[in-house]
Amino acid sequence: MRQDHLISAAQLSRTDVEAVLDRAADIDADREAWRRRHAGTVLGLCFFEPSTRTRMSFDTAMKRLGGRTVDMGPVDSTSVKKGESLADTVRVVEGYADAIVLRHPLEGAAKMASEFVDVPVINAGDGAGQHPTQTLLDLYTIRENAGLDDLTIGIMGDLKYGRTVHSLAEALTNFDARQHFISPESLQLPRSVRYDLHAAGAQVREHTALDEVLSELDVLYVTRIQRERFPDENEYRKVAGQYQIDADDLSVAKDSLTVMHPLPRVDEIAPDVDDTRHAKYFEQAHNAVPVRMALLDMLIGGDD
Ligand code: NCD
Repeated sequence: MRQDHLISAAQLSRTDVEAVLDRAADIDADREAWRRRHAGTVLGLCFFEPSTRTRMSFDTAMKRLGGRTVDMGPVDSTSVKKGESLADTVRVVEGYADAIVLRHPLEGAAKMASEFVDVPVINAGDGAGQHPTQTLLDLYTIRENAGLDDLTIGIMGDLKYGRTVHSLAEALTNFDARQHFISPESLQLPRSVRYDLHAAGAQVREHTALDEVLSELDVLYVTRIQRERFPDENEYRKVAGQYQIDADDLSVAKDSLTVMHPLPRVDEIAPDVDDTRHAKYFEQAHNAVPVRMALLDMLIGGDD
């Protein structure tokens, strides 16, 4: 893969995805062999929005490759508070780091930032836009548990504002996947994503109830209602608490159903699901490390 920046899942061909996942599997099989591969490399972490998994797993991934990270820290402690622009911030960090991981509340921020710097910019979430590196670890988890071809997947919850959904749905068009989207009408896929799926010839169906399709699914990908993106708190309250699952609900599912969630969960998946064979969301979160190690190796190493 030779990409300067990773902004959207639409950039990823099937070959790119498979190259990252194969390398991640190699890393998973023998982490020791990769321990010093990028000694001297510095990764810049610029998070303008809260993050636990994405920030910590990129940090871990860089360090496990032998490199280091410089973290901008909380926005309140930076010069952004003094009015510094995003463009100036990334132009400065470019001088400190070999690549920049950027999360920002505004859609399009990563693309804009990438136009100001020469080091690779990795989009770690831009508002309700895209989250392509989450997609790579999602695909890794799907490949390990259900396989990526002849796949029937249900994607449920906040399809409108959920950036992990937008990236995953677009990346799945590279594979033989039937995609079922389950949400309240007010949180259906945005028109632009729907257009892209249609243009790619994706097999897509939309539902308002999970039980219309649950028994057919190989994977159920549950998402959080993105409260912080709602312009009106009343609109959030109308849909909050809908589309929750518990262990009982899954009694009609296939034995082999894999339940995933990008996390954090609020109340979408009851704790009693955690003890079932279906629950793979913590495994999914752990897969972030080998997958982000593979991605960093390929973006920064640039060896093939
Ligand atoms: C997601 C995000 O930030 O988009 N979290 C993550 O990176 N794993 C999902 C979410 O916040 O609901």
